[in-house]
Amino acid sequence: MGKLVALILLGAGLALVWERLLTLRLRAALGRLPSGERMNAYREVESVEPQNCRLIEGIENGSEDIDILPSGLAFISNGLKYPGMPDLAPDEPGRIFLMDLNEQNPRVQELNISDGFDRASFNPHGMSTFIDKEQFYATRDHYFTNFFLALLELVMDLRWTHVLFYSPREVKVVARGFSSANGITISLDKKYIYVADVSDKNIHVMKIQDNWDLTQLKVIQLDTLLDNLTVDPDTGDILAGCHPNAIKLLMYNTEDPPGSEVLRIRNALSKKPVISTMYANNGSVLQGSSVASAYGGKLLIGTVFHKALYCEL
Ligand SMILES: *[C@@H]1O[C@H](CO)[C@@H](O)[C@H](O)[C@H]1NC(C)=O
Ligand SMILES: *[C@@H]1O[C@H](CO)[C@@H](O)[C@H](O)[C@H]1NC(C)=O
Repeated sequence: MGKLVALILLGAGLALVWERLLTLRLRAALGRLPSGERMNAYREVESVEPQNCRLIEGIENGSEDIDILPSGLAFISNGLKYPGMPDLAPDEPGRIFLMDLNEQNPRVQELNISDGFDRASFNPHGMSTFIDKEQFYATRDHYFTNFFLALLELVMDLRWTHVLFYSPREVKVVARGFSSANGITISLDKKYIYVADVSDKNIHVMKIQDNWDLTQLKVIQLDTLLDNLTVDPDTGDILAGCHPNAIKLLMYNTEDPPGSEVLRIRNALSKKPVISTMYANNGSVLQGSSVASAYGGKLLIGTVFHKALYCEL
């Protein structure tokens, strides 16, 4: 018995050392651009806050992905548990909230999930709404499912993450070689796919071929870690939820929390896309923005583990 306890303690100790080492390596890796020059993973943001923004009442522990139907109904995923990310309510299962953006003063309401579904283990991450199509593109944001191997994969920059195409007839890899492919969305004309590579801090603009494969048109390089992307239904602009400071996100400290940043990319297909900051905050209001979704002059900003913001632009 004593031996077993000692063995377990040794194992736990080794795991701790291993984690510390990997964290240090990760810090170093995040501090480098693919080209080898120093990348700013510690950026502080200048505050950019539209006047008419308010926190959404009822959302306290995450709003990782937000998807809005053409009718103005917004779906907000909540309670994400993701290895390495802060979790302010570890015992709460995931939920989906609904918000009707056509209302004067919209509020959220929790969606009731019907019986026969294991609600306790519900952990919604990315989310999409479908109206008629039975096919979609998705990213695989790491190759390994084990946390340490996934971290190792990132640190070693194996570039084994990819984009998949799913249809009832086939499932196939359609683009490879991303460091950490994460956010994904489709252009208004459904001819292009935009893929965010978190650790490379860029957006890949990809053209959809007749056989649904993707060919890369260009890469838009930014200076912030990109999480999820959406397209503004009125303008076709790409909206990106971003993490300006990866270290603060990975080593969460309530005294000095990670901030939020939302970028708008106009004319993504042109030679000179125009990039502007729609929202930026040092974490005093909103921490760890992961997505921004627009509908008729309104903007919803979601976060990995924190609150959610509603703005009238
Ligand atoms: C990003 O957004 C797309 C479109 O809404 C969704 O399909 C995907 O699951 C999201 N991914 C993440 C990681 O939130
Ligand atoms: C964040 O900004 C607010 C003002 O906008 C300031 O009062 C606060 O000290 C800042 N916090 C940090 C951690 O820099």
